[in-house]
Amino acid sequence: MSDTILITPSTTHTKAGSRARSSKYLRAAHGEHFSIPPVWMMRQAGRYLPEFREVRKAHGFLDVCRTPELACEVTVQPIRRFGFDAAILFSDILVPLVPMGTKLWFAPGHGPQILNPVRSKRDVEELQVVDPRESLSYVLDAIRLIRAELPKEVALIGFTGAPFTLAAYLVEGGKPEPFANLKQMMYSDPATFHNLLEKLSAMMSDYLAAMLEAGADAIQIFDTWAGILTEREFRHTNLPYLQAMYSQLAPLNVPMTYYALGGMHLTAAVRETGCTVAGLDWRTLIPGARAILGPKIAVQGNLDPTVLLGSEKLIRSEVSRVLDDARGEGGYIFNLGHGILPMTPTSSVEIMLDEIRDSRK
Ligand code: CP3
Repeated sequence: MSDTILITPSTTHTKAGSRARSSKYLRAAHGEHFSIPPVWMMRQAGRYLPEFREVRKAHGFLDVCRTPELACEVTVQPIRRFGFDAAILFSDILVPLVPMGTKLWFAPGHGPQILNPVRSKRDVEELQVVDPRESLSYVLDAIRLIRAELPKEVALIGFTGAPFTLAAYLVEGGKPEPFANLKQMMYSDPATFHNLLEKLSAMMSDYLAAMLEAGADAIQIFDTWAGILTEREFRHTNLPYLQAMYSQLAPLNVPMTYYALGGMHLTAAVRETGCTVAGLDWRTLIPGARAILGPKIAVQGNLDPTVLLGSEKLIRSEVSRVLDDARGEGGYIFNLGHGILPMTPTSSVEIMLDEIRDSRK
């Protein structure tokens, strides 16, 4: 009788629950302290890996993103090789702009290019906020495959770009520097600019929710270009949209990371975004950031990725300095301060991991 009235959680929830207990990444993101912190790397699935270059020989970058089996394979590659505590979905922050109406391509050696940049009120009006469950179903299928393939203690991170950073690519039509068109829209037509941010924020928060439904365990928002703004501008153009995105996802109680490259002057405002983990770049001092962020926000970072191009001695001493900066505090995840560079030797990653995993014996 008791069997029939017992409400059993769905399989998904049971698995998610056991992962929450077994995953070092998830536990640290929720504030737990580990003498050997969990570790993963930004851009860990990428060109520094020979097995990734092998896949890329036969398939274009966007084809890998659009084919669930290939996206799954390259997502899992760095986990197999290095045993990282978290995997990040293989995709790109610009991928969800395609069903919104963007013509995107990655020119070899030139990075992303958007053939129809968004410059006018009308361009912004024409952007479509679509249902990611239909238009980005290949990403969600990839997440299902990856989750089934990963060891249960390895967390899977889904991600998007922040509205401001996506706007930078959309308005500039590719690599955003020196941000002239973006700033022009921001200063001369703030209504259009905010309409753009509003649309991006609505689309991306729904996309993140869909990724979590499909089996991602945590999410991260990349705000690569936030650092070009003053704190006052950030509070106006980024903060309200980030708050909207994080508050919508907060009831799901999953780790929600915010990463701003060059964002050390923004830390007080980052605290107000609603993120639960702050990703720090290598120029940000961990103790100083902690003092501003307070005890409720976990910290992720922040080895300078170029250190991995240096000698073993340099790698060990810099890793150990980062660990010392973070030592003793709960809620810490080791990472790089930005993405790993394509020319990084895999042996440098091994040295980094050896220093992290053995140094606190
Ligand atoms: O391993 C991972 O981190 C997962 C996949 C991932 C990629 N891009 C794959 C990628 C993630 C999380 C991103 C995020 C991303 N993409 C950001 C935010 C983080 C950051 O770097 O600041 C940004 C700004 C982009 C936009 C983008 N995509 C640029 C500027 C470039 C060109 C530069 C480069 O590294 O080539 C890309 C291309 C890209 N995205 C590659 C990869 C693996 C290289 C493409 C290839 O394989 O040829």
